[in-house]
Amino acid sequence: MGSFFRNQDTRPKLTKDSSSCLPWIEKYRPKSLNNISAQEETLITLNHSKDNLPHMLFYGPPGTGKTSTILALARELFGPELMKSRVLELNASHERGIGVIRERVKNYARSCIVSDSDRNKCPGFKIIILDEADSLTRDAQEALRRIIEKYSELTRFCLICNQVSCIIPALKSRCTLFRFKSIGTENMRNRLSYICEQEGINYYSEALDELIKDSQGDLRKAITWLNNASKLHKNDRITVDTIKETVGIVPDDIINDLIESAASKSYDKIQETVSNVIASGYFGKQIIEQVFLRVLQDLRFNENHKCNIGESMGIIDKRLVDGGSEFFQVLSLMCKISENMN
Ligand SMILES: Nc1ncnc2c1ncn2[C@@H]1O[C@H](COP(=O)(O)OP(=O)(O)O)[C@@H](O)[C@H]1O
Ligand SMILES: [Mg+2]
Repeated sequence: MGSFFRNQDTRPKLTKDSSSCLPWIEKYRPKSLNNISAQEETLITLNHSKDNLPHMLFYGPPGTGKTSTILALARELFGPELMKSRVLELNASHERGIGVIRERVKNYARSCIVSDSDRNKCPGFKIIILDEADSLTRDAQEALRRIIEKYSELTRFCLICNQVSCIIPALKSRCTLFRFKSIGTENMRNRLSYICEQEGINYYSEALDELIKDSQGDLRKAITWLNNASKLHKNDRITVDTIKETVGIVPDDIINDLIESAASKSYDKIQETVSNVIASGYFGKQIIEQVFLRVLQDLRFNENHKCNIGESMGIIDKRLVDGGSEFFQVLSLMCKISENMN
């Protein structure tokens, strides 16, 4: 239960001494709404709603600033001192059931604000942040809907999720929806080069290009990889290869071997190649993504072939997420590719 309820105050404090040991995604988490990049429309609406904050549903891909935005907004509303008493941050993916919603969320939602002196300084409500709300069960979401209705005066909710389709309509309709866009290339580059500058990191500009390409709009991933790359080759200038090594990018010749094994139409050849690649320690998800990108550029595949392979990619990706064997999933993709190739 301890890990489920993370009150804002337990976050490490950014004193001069301790900030140097923090992971960079915490160290460089924007402290105010002004520092959130790439989400202009959302910020304008939020700035206008500060006096009468609605219930909110933030959705969009990972690493685009959803958690940072609500924390920055709460800090602006309550100030750092009152964050502890006014903000409860929960991660719904740890406890998805109705029990937790009924007990802990309800108890916090209905609790009164402690002292009147607090009220004069800031709005007279609390905020409950429910991160990863898309993993809440349907029953838990129904219970949440009733709590939201009943305790609106005292508590505003901010639900955060990647997939808005997993939130029940009755809950959605009680919130103002904010869509977070994938962070564009320029915003990524600005933020990453700012961090390099602050940390005194030397880098080739192609290395940042590689980082931006590999992280696909997820700034959390990009910052984490940069942080890891800086540790991997301390004091060296960061190169494209350092980034590839950190990210676990599969080298081009290995992807070629896989595609050519499929072209050979020999099952034994395909199995042997897949087996070698998996034994080298590359991640299944990374392999299938790179193989698929290669297929899209290869003239031996017509439109029909690409559609068939794309369809299989969806199924294979889901099986990997569900914990399916990496070997069998890569093998399954390569067999499909072999079938769909001129
Ligand atoms: N829009 C953004 N502007 C500035 N920094 C961002 C933005 N989005 C993500 N980041 C960086 O990435 C990290 C993770 O962001 P976070 O807000 O947790 O993303 P999300 O909740 O959307 O997955 C933050 O600590 C911050 O450094
Ligand atoms: Mg988040």
